Amino acid sequence: MRVNMSPKVPAGAWPAIAVVLIAAAAGFVAGGSLGAQAPTPALSQAPAQAPPPTAGAVSDDQVWREFIDWFRAAPPDPSGLGAYAAELARRNVPQEEIQRRFGVIMRLFAVKPEGAEVLYDKTFNRTALTGRPEEDGFASVPSEFLVGAVKGVPPGRALDLGMGQGRNAVALAKAGWAVTGVDVSGEAVAAAKRNAAAAGVDLEGVKSDYASFDLGRGAWDLVAMIFAWAPVDEPAFVERVRASLKPGGLVVFENFVGTPERPHAPMVRALPPGATREAFAGFEIVSYEESTGTGDWGGPGSNLVRMVARKK
Ligand SMILES: C[S@@+](CC[C@H](N)C(=O)[O-])C[C@H]1O[C@@H](n2cnc3c(N)ncnc32)[C@H](O)[C@@H]1O
Repeated sequence: MRVNMSPKVPAGAWPAIAVVLIAAAAGFVAGGSLGAQAPTPALSQAPAQAPPPTAGAVSDDQVWREFIDWFRAAPPDPSGLGAYAAELARRNVPQEEIQRRFGVIMRLFAVKPEGAEVLYDKTFNRTALTGRPEEDGFASVPSEFLVGAVKGVPPGRALDLGMGQGRNAVALAKAGWAVTGVDVSGEAVAAAKRNAAAAGVDLEGVKSDYASFDLGRGAWDLVAMIFAWAPVDEPAFVERVRASLKPGGLVVFENFVGTPERPHAPMVRALPPGATREAFAGFEIVSYEESTGTGDWGGPGSNLVRMVARKK
């Protein structure tokens, strides 16, 4: 098997500007900054798990450490992890071992927040953002879905999980919400604060990963998770979100749906069709839609889920 050095992005998809994560061994290709998907059909059936290491193989921890050190130092590169594969090849690492390491990296990327931190620090510290999603790789304007979902809702306390550069947090603050935005990327939080200041609004920005952040109890009127890589496949996390809301408080959720034809890397948490509704079964589902369209991340042809849920 060959590591895919130049991933084929589906027609119409936006470029993955910051970095493209390629894990041919694991059968996943994920547009880094986009969380977009670029499946390699022949590989999309392959399991997410890395094969067991062979005797004398570099340990998973070592694979991750070497990768993340390289990733941190690497310049943003549209070929993304293709460059890492090339680097390993340059170091005479055999192709099969490169495949194995990519499997390990993909698996650990989903559970080690420093992966997202490094990726999104690269995404949001770029000074050359144009505001044009087809060039930047993501939309800088607020999520239309979120704006529509809170229209007419009396503003209260809002928590924006994975707020990125604050396009949604700032829109909520402008609409009168008292907003706290959380993100594992310090560059994201800094950009969100800059964008809030430029818009003449306040928001509280917290640099934290989801596991470490105390969501509180009965604290929020709204929790927004917009392409947030939030681990909604973990019942304990959904329960933390539920407990953090005031009674009647809303969850507004938008993300990719993972399908066999268009899978996503595990860290994107793109649940299969119908699974997001199931994950929020303890809520009143106010609206739920899965459709194919243009994602604010991912661009045209994205499989998307949009849900509003209310704490009972
Ligand atoms: C695709 S971006 C979406 C940003 C923003 N919500 C938007 O729609 O523009 C995903 C964001 O989630 C953040 N993120 C990913 N994993 C995280 C984690 N485990 N803890 C906190 N933030 C995380 C990333 O740093 C990034 O800013």
